[in-house]
Amino acid sequence: MKQTIVLGNWKSHNTRGEAKAWVDAFVPKIPSLPHNLTLILCPAYHHIDLFLNAGLGTYLGVQNVSMYEKGAYTGEIAASMINDDVRYAMVGHSERRRYFGETDAVVGEKVKQSLGAGITPIVCISDISQVHNLKGFVPDFAEKGMLLYEPLFAVGTGNADSPEHADETARAIQEVIGATPILYGGSVDPVNVGAFLHKEHLSGVGVGGVSLDPEKFFDLIMQAAL
Ligand code: PGA
Repeated sequence: MKQTIVLGNWKSHNTRGEAKAWVDAFVPKIPSLPHNLTLILCPAYHHIDLFLNAGLGTYLGVQNVSMYEKGAYTGEIAASMINDDVRYAMVGHSERRRYFGETDAVVGEKVKQSLGAGITPIVCISDISQVHNLKGFVPDFAEKGMLLYEPLFAVGTGNADSPEHADETARAIQEVIGATPILYGGSVDPVNVGAFLHKEHLSGVGVGGVSLDPEKFFDLIMQAAL
């Protein structure tokens, strides 16, 4: 059975109370999680302890890391500050690029920081030119991580890419970087997830909106692992 990766990206959502309620609702479902699933949960940094205390630490990722080592960088969280707690770091999400001006050079630095701290980078791209650029900055960037392909028109719009086009894009990306796992993200839901995961070149999905609802997210996970 295909190993399947499901990443939940909470973005800038959930109060402390909402995060706690989510964790409380999700914990009882853990024993039913499929064996062929790699689950990655990316809450805001300050909710990480809720996940650790509830025994969900093996699934933890973050949505961003600093491009710098620890030091005098006010407001930033360095990869080495969190590597005891989290295994994965998303870098270069399209919202980081769009609202915070992250370029491929910045994303490349974040990949280096993550790898240096022993955290697996999940490199987000929305078109293949970014793959070529990143390879210029960090030639082996894909070897120790994974890629999350999220076309801009599909993120948060309810208008997912077609599984065929996503698969074709993943194939083209793998021609550039080799056999790194590629995830598709952008309006993935419990109904369309299966069609993406039946595609040859897709290893998983990145989920934003649906991951905020523990019941719907669990439903999506169960559909993903079929
Ligand atoms: P969405 O977000 O599932 O809400 O479209 C995906 C993402 O940005 O990771």
